[in-house]
Amino acid sequence: MSRKPFIAGNWKMNMTVATGTKLIADLKPLIKEAKCDVALCVPAILIPAMVKAAKGSKIKIGAQNVHFADHGAYTGEISAEMLKDYGVKYVVIGHSERRQYFGENNDTVNQRTLAALKNELTPIVCIGETLTERDAGDTENVLARQLELGLHGVEDVKQLVIAYEPVWAIGTGKTATDAQAQETVKFIRKKLSKMFSVKDANRVRILYGGSMNAGNCKGLMAQPDIDGGLIGGASLKTDFATIVNFDK
Ligand code: 13P
Repeated sequence: MSRKPFIAGNWKMNMTVATGTKLIADLKPLIKEAKCDVALCVPAILIPAMVKAAKGSKIKIGAQNVHFADHGAYTGEISAEMLKDYGVKYVVIGHSERRQYFGENNDTVNQRTLAALKNELTPIVCIGETLTERDAGDTENVLARQLELGLHGVEDVKQLVIAYEPVWAIGTGKTATDAQAQETVKFIRKKLSKMFSVKDANRVRILYGGSMNAGNCKGLMAQPDIDGGLIGGASLKTDFATIVNFDK
């Protein structure tokens, strides 16, 4: 079963129109030959300018969140329709920073995922355990629960992307080892095959995220169940191109 590799950057709350436009211009020639899918998930306010900057390149622009309602009295929120209107293709949902600082939980992740799918956006649904959970031997239970609740009511799981981001590896420089990441992503695929079907689970792209960089991407990408990366810090510089070109 061949799945097309997918390298996505998550700029988080970084960049301006000027710095983002420059980075995309610098990346364009460097990733021209890339065979994988490439996305940059940028702050909402930068979406129009970055869609324009990325035009004619392999880079698709994604958002970092989406509200679950179609429209209405939700001050400060952005709907899937609005994102689509600007040419957004992907949306990160349930990032651990949103779960940690903004009260997101498996239920809101589920609602956002369904709203994104309904509007033909591709959700990048983030799951991952904390260090305490891993040390307590709870990793598989936590991930299973995040998948069961977060993907409740999803009909066609092939339409979404899963990002496995161990919370202890995010922004810490402490990457999961290749073997750790593979073992956990394999578990995620097995869980998806029970929730959906083996065939569909084998078609879902599962990314690894957490201190992935130009130096460690090759080893992670060589793992049979890891189909790509969700890159934070290293997506803010041209190092991102090295990760996109992991197969060169
Ligand atoms: P870092 O690559 O900075 O660890 O961030 C990973 C991440 O959270 C991507 O969503």
